[in-house]
Amino acid sequence: MGITLSIRPKLEELRSRGVETALTVGGPKIVIAGAGLMGASMGQIFARWGYLVTLYDIAWEGLDKGRELIAINQRALVSQGDLSGDLSRKVLSRISYTTAIDAFKEADFVIEAIVENLGVKLDFWKEASRLAPDEAVLTTNTSGLSITEISGAVRLPERFCGMHWVNPPHIVPLVEVIQGKSTAEETVEAVREVALSVHRHPVTVRGDPRGFLLNRLQYAVLREALHLVENGYASVKDVDDVMKYGLGMRYACIGPFETVDLGGLDTFYRVGSYLFADLSDVKDVPEPLAALYREGAFGTKSGRGFYDYGNGGAERAIEKRDKDFLKLAKCLYEDI
Ligand SMILES: NC(=O)c1ccc[n+]([C@@H]2O[C@H](COP(=O)([O-])OP(=O)(O)OC[C@H]3O[C@@H](n4cnc5c(N)ncnc54)[C@H](O)[C@@H]3O)[C@@H](O)[C@H]2O)c1
Repeated sequence: MGITLSIRPKLEELRSRGVETALTVGGPKIVIAGAGLMGASMGQIFARWGYLVTLYDIAWEGLDKGRELIAINQRALVSQGDLSGDLSRKVLSRISYTTAIDAFKEADFVIEAIVENLGVKLDFWKEASRLAPDEAVLTTNTSGLSITEISGAVRLPERFCGMHWVNPPHIVPLVEVIQGKSTAEETVEAVREVALSVHRHPVTVRGDPRGFLLNRLQYAVLREALHLVENGYASVKDVDDVMKYGLGMRYACIGPFETVDLGGLDTFYRVGSYLFADLSDVKDVPEPLAALYREGAFGTKSGRGFYDYGNGGAERAIEKRDKDFLKLAKCLYEDI
């Protein structure tokens, strides 16, 4: 027997009446828990595409930071000509901020983007799913915790699903939709539809594998990159350059399977017959990463990682990343 989800008819209404109408008269209600880096960025995407957004956080300090992040993003979008001043004002007026957990009582759709800690997430879901309407869809943006394990704390877990966004979510289109053991097929389908309604690109992940798809692929590359540096085959910068000027450019346009088809399966088979055995298969965190971790060199957030970020270097690196990502996204996709 199927389950009823209030977001389905509201999405249909949004599609038939159009975003412009929704921006004036209402739209589906989304509550986002956690007004941090991810939650604040998602909030403005949903407001932009016709949803009424409530950002919920445990602390007013978190909400203030979220509001500030949104204001910075909106100013940048308007000054770059990506959004009119009028639309930006509408976006801002459609986001409300609260520390009252009662906000979940009104939700059609929930995204949890609070701290990545299983205990905290379980406590949160126990309470929020008790308050949310029976017909609401509930999702978590966990980076890699088990969806099935989190769903243990959720009332009516068939409505619960993973919805993993990529930082910065207002620019990167991918959304992984992860089915847990109890997630109903209708829930997976509804989450995919919601992602499409805000002009993102959903992919479906079955069987709840640790790290989902993106992080498994990312860490496979990182392990080999660290292996090459550790063994003195190349510098950190040269490995980064191989990705930026070679593989990364290719992968922005075609995936690994398309690459094989275009390059010739026979060739990839022959190379694979001697190369797979030579690749790193270490099980522990490789030493170049572990050593920096022990020194507290956490990257831009601490001023040093594989590179040095002193004298405003961190801000410059983040700004350049966002500018380049946006250029690429605009070049490859419409409506981002
Ligand atoms: N940052 C990334 O690159 C990234 C990418 C994908 C997924 N994620 C995941 O998204 C989630 C949020 O990450 P972030 O980077 O936005 O974190 P963040 O630290 O920037 O923000 C987390 C926010 O959650 C609030 N919070 C903490 N506990 C809470 C609770 N019990 N109830 C309500 N609010 C609470 C905090 O006050 C803070 O404002 C994590 O699960 C993370 O793994 C992060």
